[in-house]
Amino acid sequence: MARQKWGSRWAFVLAAIGSAAGLGNAWRFPYMAYQNGGGAFYIPYFVALFIAGIPILMAEFAIGQGFQSSAPKALGKVSKNAEFIGWWAVITGSIITFYYNVIMAWIFNYLYHSLGVAWKNDPKGFFFGDFLKLTDGPGQLGGLRWPIVIGLLISWLWIYMILRKGTESVGKTVMWTVPLPVVLLLLLGIRGITLPGAATGLNYLFQPNFAKLADARVWANAFGQIFFSLSVAFGIMIAYGSYNSKKNDVANNAIITALGNSATSFLAGIAVFSVLGYMAQQMNVQVNEVVSGGVGLAFVVYPQAISLIPGGPIVQSIIGLAFFIMLLTLGIDSAFSLVEAIEAAAGDKFKVNKKSFLIGFSILGFIFGLLFATQGGLYWLDIIDHFMGTYALLVVGILESIVIGWIFGADRLRKYINSVSEIKIGGWFDLSLKFVIPIVLIIILGLNIFDEIKN
Ligand code: PHE
Repeated sequence: MARQKWGSRWAFVLAAIGSAAGLGNAWRFPYMAYQNGGGAFYIPYFVALFIAGIPILMAEFAIGQGFQSSAPKALGKVSKNAEFIGWWAVITGSIITFYYNVIMAWIFNYLYHSLGVAWKNDPKGFFFGDFLKLTDGPGQLGGLRWPIVIGLLISWLWIYMILRKGTESVGKTVMWTVPLPVVLLLLLGIRGITLPGAATGLNYLFQPNFAKLADARVWANAFGQIFFSLSVAFGIMIAYGSYNSKKNDVANNAIITALGNSATSFLAGIAVFSVLGYMAQQMNVQVNEVVSGGVGLAFVVYPQAISLIPGGPIVQSIIGLAFFIMLLTLGIDSAFSLVEAIEAAAGDKFKVNKKSFLIGFSILGFIFGLLFATQGGLYWLDIIDHFMGTYALLVVGILESIVIGWIFGADRLRKYINSVSEIKIGGWFDLSLKFVIPIVLIIILGLNIFDEIKN
């Protein structure tokens, strides 16, 4: 059977941006920037984007497209021994989908509760008490939270519907699920910056603290954020590239994808921090007293801010709906891209019927996801997420850049990229794949292990 193809260049580019721009852009990026030097963080961020993010994205598009294969098969064609790296990547990705979809399930619930702003001014109690009923530890595994289970079911059904007809149905979906969250972020941003106190919030996000740049951790965080945010090292961009024709432009598409993704992050930063500034002013506290990292930013802090926005319950409901529809449509393309990566890999390797695989995998994903839908869900989610983000992803990134850079040859790949791309890339690409990426990722891995031992 002929390999499926994207219906148009834009279907591919939007799908790639959709995968990159996910929940991480909305809560991970703003918090990262805030914590790592504010405006000064954009220096390591852009350095990481240009010297590591864009090159690895180009490399992934190129090997998928050039070999017309998903990650394990493409890397296996470079070297027999490298196939396992591709499997590692897609399996890590699948594990991430198991809990990513649980976060999607929370969002469905918040969407529903936005109608009456059900969390009122105690979103913390709502999230931990009424709604998630979380316990500190692993909790009772039996304690399923039914509203989350239902949300999880809806997420998997939605993913199934989108992937069912492959690139055709994905292409149709991304035409609206990628622009919509951007429009909503713009509207939320406009509402945000017109609130009193917004400037103080934005100051926290943009005022540069250059002293932070001397801290290696800040640089490591910037590289980590870029890798996670571009969805590289999970086999996704390789699978997506494999549905292009061999002659498709690589360099240009990678740059558009990367910049589109960053633009979404900035918008999210403005939308979130302007509202935090307003909230701090209303509560008569400093902005840093209301900011929180991780899931709390989207599920506790922002909802609380919503409950303070002037205009009464109807306006607050509308803002809640806008915020959670934004999150949902931002997240869905990332969620299904992870599934597509493993589906493509299984299809290439075992010649399984893609539709049967998809049904089987969705059921499996739903069942595994139930672990995170229990009372101790957040506890398990944190542990697995930490492990995935801190180790699995980095190891794949290191091995992948070594295999592509050294075994296949960065110069050889660059010749291919230049033969199909409008923008010609120079020798910096080789330096990046062969040295910068593996070395930086090894340093980050070292720092992470060091932190782990220290604690
Ligand atoms: N890039 C996505 C985000 O920023 C997260 C993600 C990572 C999605 C890996 C898929 C694969 O939220």
